[in-house]
Amino acid sequence: MKLAERMSRLGTETAFEVLARARALEQQGRSVIHLEIGEPDFPTPPHVVEAGKRALDEGWTKYGPPPGLPELREAIAAYVSRTRGVTAGAGNVCVVPGGKPIMFFTMLALLEPGDEVIYPDPSFPIYESLIRFLGAVPVPIPLVEERGFSFDLDLFRDRLSAKTKLVILNSPHNPTGGVIPAADLGSMAAMLRERDLMVLSDEIYSRIWFESAPASIASCDGMAERTIILDGFSKTYSMTGWRLGYGVMPAWLAQAVAKLMVNSNSCTASFTQRAGLAALQGPQDCVDAMVAEFRRRRDAIHKGLNEIPGFRCALPVGAFYVFPNVEGTGMKSKQVADFLLNEAGVACVDGGAFGTYGDGYVRFSCANSLENIAEAVARIASVSDRWRVPAAQSR
Ligand SMILES: Cc1ncc(COP(=O)(O)O)c(C=O)c1O
Repeated sequence: MKLAERMSRLGTETAFEVLARARALEQQGRSVIHLEIGEPDFPTPPHVVEAGKRALDEGWTKYGPPPGLPELREAIAAYVSRTRGVTAGAGNVCVVPGGKPIMFFTMLALLEPGDEVIYPDPSFPIYESLIRFLGAVPVPIPLVEERGFSFDLDLFRDRLSAKTKLVILNSPHNPTGGVIPAADLGSMAAMLRERDLMVLSDEIYSRIWFESAPASIASCDGMAERTIILDGFSKTYSMTGWRLGYGVMPAWLAQAVAKLMVNSNSCTASFTQRAGLAALQGPQDCVDAMVAEFRRRRDAIHKGLNEIPGFRCALPVGAFYVFPNVEGTGMKSKQVADFLLNEAGVACVDGGAFGTYGDGYVRFSCANSLENIAEAVARIASVSDRWRVPAAQSR
């Protein structure tokens, strides 16, 4: 028996493969500092855990409505309306098990084979994986480091075609930590609003920023009706394992996504949704404390990596990753990532795993303690004499 042909077009997330290799090394007694996985290392805030436990005791253990509990959809609609300056109601919201299903379901609902999808390169590998899986045509647009890892807008205009069905944006951005400037969103909106296409705006890191609050393209004139805002609880409230995310989109698409939920999950776990309600409506100082800690770590790793010969690290302004250029080491970035794991005991992800234009970079996640980050930088520094860097080339 053979797998269906489409399975050969499905990609994966390299971070999980690096994690498996790192764990194998640890089993052999090696010490590894984990900077590969994009999962906040903080516990879920206690009041959220309490709400989840209470929900279990109260019997929130049954099926719920496929698009989510009405009270949670209402709360999400109010939150997104407030933070993105849009007018959303519960009918615009679909609650699903994590942010990823919003990618899957909206693309499944919208894309025909041959439709073109514009997306950033480098970016979260699941975008390209799903585009190919659905027989659509990937149209990657390189991000420009000098523009804070945003698009070259002329190139963006050039790549738009009559076949473009979907544009994927992600800000704050994984893996670069870039945030799309509001002015760029305005320019893109001007190019997109007259076209028959949708925008998937992945805002899963919307609360993790260090300079100014990221804007959403949904706030631009005429864009709310053609935008799917993807957000969720995984990163903001350190709830990766609870599996809780949502999309805010036009009602006609929300109904289609609800239908896909009926056909796949039936619903998102009811007690998880009750915990999500507590997260949205409860105190937010846990988020502020997490972001403050991410900022300390970002500053430390950014400074430390820039002192290593062969590394050049831009300052990320959002999310919790740093994405240094490592071409100065004289090695390919994949080799650098392997070398750091095997020789220094530091796990990171090759930038090429996020797209062709990620080649030459590696991604470190700041989801580890300040002490471990300092130790990781020291370990990298201690092996850096093993790559040859002419002094002039190293900065
Ligand atoms: C850009 C981006 N979008 C979406 C997700 C998926 O989040 P979730 O775990 O809620 O499915 C991730 C997770 O790493 C991500 O980096």
